[in-house]
Parts: sequence; structure tokens; C-alpha cells
Amino acid sequence: MDQIVVRPGPPLEGTVRVGGAKNAALKLMAATLLAEGDYRLRNVPAITDVETMGEVLMCMGLDVTRIAPDELAIHRGPDCGVEAPYELVERMRASIVVLGPLLGRVGRARVAMPGGDDFGSRPIDMHLAGLEQLGATIEVRHGYIEAWTDGLLGCRITLDFPSVGATENLLLAAVLAKGTTVIDNAAREPEIADLAVFLNRMGATIHGAGTSTIEIEGVTELRPADHMVIPDRVEAATFLAAVALARGEITLEGARADHMGMFIQKMTDMGVWITPTSSGLWASAQGRPRSVDVATLPYPGIATDYKPFLVAVLSVADGVAIVTENLFAGRFKYVSELIRMGANIRTEGHHAVVRGVARLSGAPVRASDIRAGAAMVLAGLNAEGETVVADAFHIDRGYDDLPAKLRQLGADVTREGPTQRASAP
Ligand code: EPZ
Repeated sequence: MDQIVVRPGPPLEGTVRVGGAKNAALKLMAATLLAEGDYRLRNVPAITDVETMGEVLMCMGLDVTRIAPDELAIHRGPDCGVEAPYELVERMRASIVVLGPLLGRVGRARVAMPGGDDFGSRPIDMHLAGLEQLGATIEVRHGYIEAWTDGLLGCRITLDFPSVGATENLLLAAVLAKGTTVIDNAAREPEIADLAVFLNRMGATIHGAGTSTIEIEGVTELRPADHMVIPDRVEAATFLAAVALARGEITLEGARADHMGMFIQKMTDMGVWITPTSSGLWASAQGRPRSVDVATLPYPGIATDYKPFLVAVLSVADGVAIVTENLFAGRFKYVSELIRMGANIRTEGHHAVVRGVARLSGAPVRASDIRAGAAMVLAGLNAEGETVVADAFHIDRGYDDLPAKLRQLGADVTREGPTQRASAP
């Protein structure tokens, strides 16, 4: 029994701290494969995906230790293994980003083909094509990517689509390649800029991260460094949606408005008051949200990770909204669970038509992935009666004790069954 139980409660109030970004921390951890020595990563969330990446690195002989609630110490010795096993990669798709640093630093990698969240097909063709352009030889055999090189050579790579993962893998490979690499149509997410800041601190020469053209001048060696992970804009968005559903007034310590401009604009259009403060964001919602149309896009557009939260809010908004998913065609699995709670939503291909209802009703529902699971908990904040979200382990992959943080804001949210809190690393 691993479930989160949500009961109706008062409007939210108070302050909660936003943790470090999962989608930055995982790639920063993979970057430690690039140079021998000791690293300190601060503001690392205590979530199971970080644990899994720690296991991947430990499989390769690195030491990964949680030395404080939000701090990791990582030691990389002179030698490291090159294999990322199926049982770990299958658990977390982001493990694929060890491919680039292993090829750049060791010249060899054996990585299982990724699994991860069930959003429909998630190819890695752009990762592999870009690494081949850099001079790697790649074969897929028995479910594993076998890759090797005598030394990567810088070149110009144009991505078909601004893929986050492909941009990061190529960045991590190119920093030790001979000559200059240019990544055109690169992804611009803040987590990529954070990775580049860390790599430059390690001695790399990267320009333009955060824009669609990144230039990397390869260097012969890198050194370890310390880094503070940027705040998690997706976690911050979760709490902003929570206040829209439960009403109230909250402060988000550590949230960065400049990383989530479009989302804040969309929530403001829905009637939520949001202002940056000296230490984060303040938000207030006093009435029923208004319906607005939403379309997901690569950064700086509305992130696909925000969409389940937005659909939960739109399901009780005043009016009709059209929601379009432009990144992951299959990312509407949670809709049937919202309908179980009385929502009025119709999906057609990568569109959904959401007709707002006055209030949801509590029901037993199931989390199908990290963000869908969080959206079910949020929907429960608005519902009449009890909502029981099963398979809460999905939520632990991306949130450090979401129920406790919501309780800090006065919500009645409890965990029943095993709490898969990250122990070590
Ligand atoms: C990252 O996934 C995030 N994960 C996802 O967050 C996020 O939804 C996604 O970026 C988009 O913002 C991590 O950072 C760990 P992509 P990633 O490569 O890198 C297609 C969460 O909940 N594509 O930008 O896997 C792909 O199918 C997670 O925190 C190819 O076709 O996403 C998709 O349609 C879920 N070929 C689009 O590009 C490729 O080689 C964007 O994918 C690579 C991608």
C-alpha cells in the first residue's frame, strides 16, 4: 500500500521552500564522470531519481554520498567503469546522459536503451546521431548501446528538434572533443544553462548555453568543482497550481520567476496573483480560476511538465479550454483519472477540450508518472470528500515529500504505506 490521501482543507497559507531542480541535478551528477577528484553538489533534492543516478555512478566505481539533507559529495577515481545497467536505466530514462561524458572522457560506453515515463515513443535518435557526428561508432546490441571512439572531433550539429536530453548529452561529450563544436537548434531550458555553468567551472569553454546556438571549444582536461543546483521550476509550478485549486495565499522560498515567465503569465491570465519577492514568489488565489487555452512548447514556451497541473486547474475553471501537447503525444494518461473525479475532459490525439466543473469529487485514482501523480494530489485539494492517490512512488521520483510540504501550507495530505524517501545517496 503506497498511497497519498488528500482530504478537503482550508485555503492554503504560509511559506514553503522550493528544492533544487531534478532535471539539473541528474545531469550535473553525470558530469562528474568527466574529471578525477572530489565534487560537492548543493541544493540537491532528496528524491529517488537522484538516488538512481547515484546508483548508476556507483556502478561505475564512483563514490556518491549524501553528506547533508540537500548536499552530495561525489568522488571520481582515476578509473571508472563504462556500463550503465538495464535495471537502472530502465528505471530512469535520464541515465542516458552518461553516454556523452563517458565517450568524451573514457572513449567507451555501454548503456542500456532507456525506459522511463510512459509518454508514448521517446526515441534517442538525436543523441546517437549527434555523437556519431562527433566521431563515435555506435551499435545497438541486445538492448544495449555500445559506443566507442579514439577521440571525439568537434563539428557543427543541427538538432531536428530542441531536445533537452540530446543537447545535454552532446554538450557533455563535446567539452573534451578536439576542436570546436556548435549545437544549432539547441534546447534552451534553464537546466542546460546550469549544466554549462558547472562545466565552465570545471574548466570547459562553453558559450551560448540557454540560447539555441551553443559553441563549445574542446579542452584537453577538466577538474572537479562545487556547485549549487538551481531551484526546481516544475516544483514551484506545482505549488502555484495548488493555490489556484485550493485558494489562499502562499510564499515560495527560492523560486525563480525568471525561469518560469510563461507559466506565471498563464496563471495570471487564469486569475492568480503572482509577484516575485526578494526571496522567491508570492501568490494569491481568491476566486474560481478562468479558463485559458494552453499549448506546450520547448523553453521558453509552456513546459510539457507543467501541463498536468494546468489541466487539473482548468478542470474546475470557469469556461472551456483547449490544451495542446506538442512534445509527447501520449502525455494525457492522467485525464481518465481526473474524469474519475468528475472532470469534463475530452481528448483527441494531442488535444484536450476541458470544460470546467464547479468542483471535483474525491475518488481512488492512480499516479502514472511523476507530474501526473502530483496533479492528482493537487486535484484532491479541490475535491469534495477523500482522494486516494495510489502508486505514489512515482511522485517520490521528482518530489521530496510533497505531502509534508503541502501540510506546511495547511493542506490535509497524508502518506499511507512505505515512504520511499531517499536514504543514500
Ligand atoms: C526532459 O526529457 C525532461 N527530463 C522531461 O521532464 C521534460 O518533459 C522534457 O525534457 C521536455 O522538457 C529530464 O530532464 C530528466 P526531450 P527529455 O529530449 O530530455 C523527441 C519530468 O517530469 N526526441 O527534450 O527526454 C522526444 O520524443 C520529465 O521531470 C526525439 O525525437 O526530453 C520528445 O517528443 C518528464 N529524439 C521531444 O523530442 C531524440 O533523440 C522532447 O524530448 C530526443 C528527443
